[in-house]
Amino acid sequence: GAPVEIDISKIEAGQMLTAEWRGKPIWVVNRTDQQVKDLKSLDGMMADPNSEVDHQPENCKNGTRSIKPNVLVAIGICTHLGCSPTYRPDIAPADLGADWKGGFFCPCHGSKFDIAGRVYSGVPAPTNLVVPPHKYLNDTTILVG
Ligand code: FES
Repeated sequence: GAPVEIDISKIEAGQMLTAEWRGKPIWVVNRTDQQVKDLKSLDGMMADPNSEVDHQPENCKNGTRSIKPNVLVAIGICTHLGCSPTYRPDIAPADLGADWKGGFFCPCHGSKFDIAGRVYSGVPAPTNLVVPPHKYLNDTTILVG
């Protein structure tokens, strides 16, 4: 499939936009500064906190799994059996409560991911969400693919 351009200029802080690339949903989240700050504090609950499984391109091998700290780009497909998780910026899954700092919840079998797409320990999904190859064409345009 051809690369796809995504205009990210209209995504408010804390909001997510969904685009499509190769028939797959591509999520772009404009993470808040607080969400970026909280990532480190979640490491202990993550199955692969440092994303050692190779599910991100070279330019996203860092603590935020992204090129710009605030902007997450991820393929919106659960790494368990391929359902599409729901974006849960505020409402925690039942077992997490105040520890929830925003992320994604898969309704199929309950997998949880943080706002960097890192999978929580003890859920069916085996790995972090996949970050697709992408780059910035300018400040507000991403090219995926
Ligand atoms: Fe997401 Fe099973 S497909 S938890």
